Amino acid sequence: MNKRPREDEPSSSLASAQKRQFGAGGGYGEQGYSEERISAQRVADHYSARSNQTLEERENSPIIHLKKLNNWIKSVLVQLYARPGDCVLDLACGKGGDLIKWDKAKVGYYVGVDIAEGSIKDCMTRYNGDSDQQRRKKFSFPARLICADCYETRLDEYLCEDAPFDICSCQFAMHYSWSTEARARQALANISALLRPGGTFIGTMPDANVIIKRLRESEGMEFGNSVYCITFGEEYTEKDAVDCPEWVVPFHLFKLLAEEFDLELVLMKNFHEFVHEYVQRPEFADLMRRLGPLGDGRSGQSTLSQDEWEASYLYLAFVLRKRGPPPSQRRANNPNRGKTFLAEEDIEFLSI
Ligand SMILES: C[S@@+](CC[C@H](N)C(=O)[O-])C[C@H]1O[C@@H](n2cnc3c(N)ncnc32)[C@H](O)[C@@H]1O
Repeated sequence: MNKRPREDEPSSSLASAQKRQFGAGGGYGEQGYSEERISAQRVADHYSARSNQTLEERENSPIIHLKKLNNWIKSVLVQLYARPGDCVLDLACGKGGDLIKWDKAKVGYYVGVDIAEGSIKDCMTRYNGDSDQQRRKKFSFPARLICADCYETRLDEYLCEDAPFDICSCQFAMHYSWSTEARARQALANISALLRPGGTFIGTMPDANVIIKRLRESEGMEFGNSVYCITFGEEYTEKDAVDCPEWVVPFHLFKLLAEEFDLELVLMKNFHEFVHEYVQRPEFADLMRRLGPLGDGRSGQSTLSQDEWEASYLYLAFVLRKRGPPPSQRRANNPNRGKTFLAEEDIEFLSI
């Protein structure tokens, strides 16, 4: 549908000009590897291949305002649920695009995990203050970075000395766990085991209700606009398919499965509803004004195109809470946890 300009880094968004392919499972069928592992590797390669953009490249992106809106939504979630001194587990942390948000929330410790080696290295660069996307130099919290498939690996065992975490975040990535039931369960088992009782799990992912509704309204197995295109079907199993497979997560099933792991739903809102609600609050309206995508949300100053706004409708934000009474006292901070400068040798690689 319509033109599809090239866009190299969707940064947490479906709204790349790249085609995204939704389906129920992987399917390369290469010998010796399970389909899920091949599919996970393909996701890792896809993200690793995306180089860090310069500030200028970012500003020239056709979806720059959508990226800013996504950042606003993530900032609101962090500001609503993170507390000073919190231990943070950032699953699928990517290039560390949320480090500044955590810093503003004055968190005490950060562990980032991502399957894509290239992204985790970029995250290290950004953490060390060497990235030209970053205006500030140093983060106030120590950090640890791990390259691992967080939907396949027993992270609870590996991170037992860092646990419990106060908050876990999985932004624009939980749906990658949905390729098989076993992976979806492992993802939630990790999160549940690593969070303290009363701890919070915040995230964003595609909104299956909207996507399926759009698919029903469309004539073929594809729909989109000038900033995104979604294709359903078996194409991604073909050898020459080059794009990154993604999965649709029916939210009611996600909620039920999460409950099995003692994670109770606190909030679920489509991005449009989320924006309308939280932009009413003066502190978030002010942030919106500074970031730019919608002005202050009231006075028709939106710089976001209609197509970008429509693309944001494909996503939802959620918050879950780990069942149980919060501990009466915060665990004492272990001064040996993490580092305040990370070298490449400090990145930990975990195989399954
Ligand atoms: C759209 S990006 C989001 C990155 C970051 N959370 C953000 O909001 O900027 C999706 C990320 O999920 C990561 N990812 C996908 N599958 C994963 C897995 N099985 N384990 C760990 N990370 C994964 C990708 O490597 C990529 O960095």
